[in-house]
Formats: sequence, C-alpha cells, structure tokens
Amino acid sequence: MPIAEQASSLSSKTLDLTWVRSQFPSLAQTVHGQPAVFLDGPGGTQVPQRVIDAIADYLSRNNANTGGAYHTSRNTDRMIAEARQAIGTFLNCDAEEIVFGPNMTTLTFAMSRALGRELGPGDEIVLTLLDHDANFSPWKALEEKGVVIRAVKFNEADCTLDMDDLAAKIGKRTRLVAVGYASNAVGTINNVAEVVRLARQAGALSYIDAVHYAPHGLLDVRALDCDFLVSSTYKFFGPHMGVLYGKREHLKRLRPYKVRPNTDNIPNRWEWGTLNHECIAGIKACVDYWEELGRRANPAVATRCAAIMTAHEAIHEHERKMTEKIVAGLLAIPGLRIYGITDPRRFEERCATFVVRIAGHTPLELATKLGERGFFTWDGNYYALNLTEQLDVERLGGFLRIGLVHYNTMEEVARLLTALREIVG
Ligand SMILES: Cc1ncc(COP(=O)(O)O)c(C=O)c1O
Repeated sequence: MPIAEQASSLSSKTLDLTWVRSQFPSLAQTVHGQPAVFLDGPGGTQVPQRVIDAIADYLSRNNANTGGAYHTSRNTDRMIAEARQAIGTFLNCDAEEIVFGPNMTTLTFAMSRALGRELGPGDEIVLTLLDHDANFSPWKALEEKGVVIRAVKFNEADCTLDMDDLAAKIGKRTRLVAVGYASNAVGTINNVAEVVRLARQAGALSYIDAVHYAPHGLLDVRALDCDFLVSSTYKFFGPHMGVLYGKREHLKRLRPYKVRPNTDNIPNRWEWGTLNHECIAGIKACVDYWEELGRRANPAVATRCAAIMTAHEAIHEHERKMTEKIVAGLLAIPGLRIYGITDPRRFEERCATFVVRIAGHTPLELATKLGERGFFTWDGNYYALNLTEQLDVERLGGFLRIGLVHYNTMEEVARLLTALREIVG
C-alpha cells in the first residue's frame, strides 16, 4: 500500500526544532568562537546521537562476521536483518529488495556491470545532463559494449529537466532510463513519476538516483513503481553507506559478478565480501530517528511508515519557510545570481539546495570566507559535472552551494545572509 494512504490525515506539521537540534551533538560546535552552521547537508548530513551510539554499541558488544555459530555472530545476523527491514520500511519495499553497499556510486557501478551483461550494440540508455556523475559515468561506461547513450538536456533558465527532450530520446531501443530524483547542485526536483511511466511505456527499466532527494522528501518505491532506486544513508542523517532498492524480479533475474560462496538468494547474491556492520547498525538507528521525529509531530500516527511520512510533512513545511527567506535574501545581494528555480510559486519543484555565483568573487573565496565565520558551504561542481560544463561555470570554479536540511534554522539563514552581505561588501 502506498505510504501516503497509511498516514493519518490528522497529521500535524510541526517540527520540534529544539528537540531535533538536541539530537545532533555536532551542531553544538563553534568555529573561532562562532556557532558552526552546517550548510553542507548535500555533501553529507550530521547524525543524531543514537546513530553514534548504535555504531559504538555494535563495535563494543557484537563485533563479528556473519553466519557464525556463536552469540555475537548471530546478533550481527539479526541486527542486519532488522536494519534491512527498517530501510525497507523507509522506502516502502520488502527487506529482501534492499541491497547494502559502500555508497551509491559503487552500487551503481555494480548494477551497470550486471545490466551491461545483457546489453549490446544498438541498445540505448537515456541519461540526463542534470544528474550527478554517479548516475552518468557508470552507464556511459557501457559504450564499450556498443551501447548508445542519449543524454537529456535541461532548460538553462531554471535548471529543470527538458521533459520534451526526455520523451523524444526514449524510444524502441531504450533499455534503461537513469534519472536523479533531485539535483544535488541546483536543487531541482524532477518529475520522476513521469519518467518512470515513459520508461515503462517503452519497455525500458527505470533507475532513480534518490541520494539528494532523500533528506527532503518521501521515498515510496511502490507508489513510484520504479525498477531501481538508490540512495546513500549519510545524506539522510545516517552513516556513510549506500542502499539500493531493486524490484525482486530484477534482483533475481539479473546476473551479478560475485564470488561462489555467495548464495543465489536475494539480496545475498548482490552483497559481496564483508559489509560495514557497524554502519548498518547505525542505519537502523537512523530510521528510528525518522520515526521518532514523525511521532513527535503527530503522536497519533499508528505505524512506523505513517510516522516517517509525517516526519517528511513536518520537514517540508520547515524547509519551505527557510527557502522563502533565503531566496528573497540572496536575490537582494548585489551581483548575486541563483541558478535554478527562484519563483516562490514553483518552490514545490525544488529542494532547499541553492547554488549561486556572485560577480567579482570566486566560489572558493566565498566558501573560505564563510568557513572562517563558521558557515560550512561548498564550492565547485559536486560531481554535477555535465551541469557546470553546460552552464560554463566549470572553468570559473563552479558555484557556491548552500544546502539546508531540517536541522537548520531561520536564524541561521538570517545570519548567513548577513555574513554574505558583509563579505560581498
Ligand atoms: C545526487 C547524488 N547522486 C549520487 C551521489 C554519490 O553518492 P555516493 O557518495 O554515496 O556514492 C551523490 C553524492 O553527493 C549525490 O549528491
């Protein structure tokens, strides 16, 4: 059942920000006497104390390999099963459809290699120029097998995907459409439901990169009906790991390169070698955090699933308010250009991730000056290389990226705007 139907219609949308911030010990840090302001969420979010505790607890008490006939190994097996179940609930799929891996990029290379075994000259893969390179290069590598890559353009004025171009590029020979849920640079949220539909209509598979979207919006693979969806837990308040959802039929049918002792059961046939058990323990704690966030927003929610959806609703409201404030404030800074959607009527089409350039200042200079004042932003291309190249900012140091997530505050936004105004002079 889609998660949306399971959530109570009574859900309140209030984020308990004081509680939220108390959960993240790193947020209390200072830099040169100034409170640290974490605007680097798109590069990796901070983790709540319970994630840190779960990692430490696993290493202190249950550190073992899997499949052994003794206490700590059995505890490890149980813990991994629970974490798989938890992330399955988070994405709304079965636990056996979840594959753990080191990060999204590695999982995507693994999947491109397996899918590539079935492809040959004349087969086509549709990619987009808005995507992070991790959802581009692993597929482009299949050109060596004669696969044809068709890259979808984006509209430069607002950095949205050119859906007409996408529809035109999907055809009879398309085998896979790989698209990002949201851009980790310009923040655009793509109409992935439509992309999935177009792919299916053409008999192609859909592969969704949900790394950037995960901290901002609900992921429901059943409702989306995508074939694959991949994300990284360190972008949504968990440890440095990747997770891949694959429809059961595909995980069973496709042929991964694997070692012989891996069984042919799913997901075991996709998980080679020893996983990062302590981080997997942290993933379960991360989903627990999401659940508690939702239950605090609405104590009446009945299920874990509904709590996660309520958490997203509360986050959405908060991020929306911060988006309104920051976009208005940024646009008032002389010489500043925001790349991406700036019209408040269209804010539902973007995440609270902003890239800017300011005349007369390089992104590195701005990030460095902000960093000295305790604001953690990013400069460069963040591997959204096709985007920075097409917008011709790659040779100019890319953009300054300011990424807001739910633990950021309106007050932090106000302080950032003041600092930027002072730096620009
Ligand atoms: C949108 C997007 N896709 C993919 C990746 C790659 O993720 P990972 O570092 O887990 O390989 C990132 C990382 O920043 C990202 O933002």
